[in-house]
Amino acid sequence: MSVSSDVKDLKLAPGGKKRILWADQDMPVLRRVRDQFAKAKPLAGMKMSCCLHVTAETANLVRTLQAGGAEVMLIASNPLSTQDDVAASLVSDFGIHVNAIHGEDKDTYYKHVVSALDFQPHVTMDDGADLVSAMIFVALDRLKGVHEQVANWAKKFTPQQRKERFAQVVGSMEETTTGVIRLRAMEKDGVLQFPVIAVNDAATKHMFDNRYGTGQSTIDGIIRATNILMAGRKVVVSGYGWCGKGVASRARGLGAQVIITEVDPIAALEAAMDGFSVMPIMEAAKLGDIFITVTGNKHIVRREHFLAMKDGAIVCNSGHFDVELELPALEEESASKTLDVRNQVDEYKLKNGKRIFVLGQGRLVNLAMAEGHPPSVMDMSFATQALATEYCVKQKGKLTAAVHTVPLEIEHFVATEKLASMGIHIDAMTSDQAKYSVSWEHGT
Ligand SMILES: NC(=O)c1ccc[n+]([C@@H]2O[C@H](COP(=O)([O-])OP(=O)(O)OC[C@H]3O[C@@H](n4cnc5c(N)ncnc54)[C@H](O)[C@@H]3O)[C@@H](O)[C@H]2O)c1
Repeated sequence: MSVSSDVKDLKLAPGGKKRILWADQDMPVLRRVRDQFAKAKPLAGMKMSCCLHVTAETANLVRTLQAGGAEVMLIASNPLSTQDDVAASLVSDFGIHVNAIHGEDKDTYYKHVVSALDFQPHVTMDDGADLVSAMIFVALDRLKGVHEQVANWAKKFTPQQRKERFAQVVGSMEETTTGVIRLRAMEKDGVLQFPVIAVNDAATKHMFDNRYGTGQSTIDGIIRATNILMAGRKVVVSGYGWCGKGVASRARGLGAQVIITEVDPIAALEAAMDGFSVMPIMEAAKLGDIFITVTGNKHIVRREHFLAMKDGAIVCNSGHFDVELELPALEEESASKTLDVRNQVDEYKLKNGKRIFVLGQGRLVNLAMAEGHPPSVMDMSFATQALATEYCVKQKGKLTAAVHTVPLEIEHFVATEKLASMGIHIDAMTSDQAKYSVSWEHGT
């Protein structure tokens, strides 16, 4: 099998291999799954297209899928998160097809999406649903909805061929909150063509990855980008979901005064009872030194908020897409813009004289400016991903074209193995307790 690739430089492979193996040391559950896969080959004969952040941790996931017998093509799910040395090593050292280059423009990004479609996968994996949505647009012949790279590729086929093109897809896994939201919307519109497993919705994923992973790596990204002292700063976190909780608690741990903005009364109440200040973004805009959006929604920080900010405010996003900050409005309100006053820190000088610093062009700050989530937490997410893939393939033809949850046995396996790897043992219920816990007869 020849390995196809469009990566920055294959000569970067030795550095990438070191990173992959370093991360692997802290991914014991995924290693265990890889050993099982190597013996049982549950993915034999499967071609897989994976649209994920191309990082050292992802490299260990795709190695696991390969060990299970799959032939894997990996493309980036974000133009700024690709680690070029890791991409090179995956091609040179591990025989994975990789099409991903750090900083690729939109045309190249979608050229790589086309390569993943053209691979004719049986199983796909997404982080944000860009790959599945391209497949659905093509299958439905709605070529106005896709990037022109995808549309031009699809035009090589007749509408009937476009529909048939994805008939062999057994299913898809989705890694993140935003992707699951898009997939549920596809299901609601009746356009989903194959089953999808919402890996994000597994407790072994979002409770740990979104909270502890995004929490730590977002702060890591801001500090690497700016070298700012967090202690004593006013940090505004928009969104108090799983990611927001992690970011807020880590910022507080470093001595920041954290303000939460929310639209959900229950999440806002939880933030208040967790001891944070809660207020509308318009009020927070006047107070904050650092603004972090993690909502999965659009235009959280808008024109009027930028105008109200203090001179020197730092603004960034850790939600999936680069739409949480209304950057076009900031451009319009600016007298000048200086790119890269520090690496990937852009200074906007407003017409009112104040300066706003935007990190990583409003893209995921933890992946654009740092290395994403640490391997120990991706261990759980990716062990869940690999086992969900095995489940999906085993259930071939039995799951409906809908969004499905990860079976509880998989979650229990991942949590139990993770605890064991940490040297933690827990109690088991006595048979009496087990009976009591599901009975109704005992009262006051
Ligand atoms: N940076 C990363 O590596 C990473 C990792 C995991 C998830 N994500 C992404 O982060 C985003 C959030 O994920 P999550 O799991 O925390 O989701 P979540 O659904 O648990 O939380 C999102 C919160 O944002 C709030 N929100 C929505 N609109 C808002 C608005 N206008 N103002 C203030 N708050 C608002 C919601 O009420 C909700 O409480 C998603 O886009 C997800 O894909 C990023």
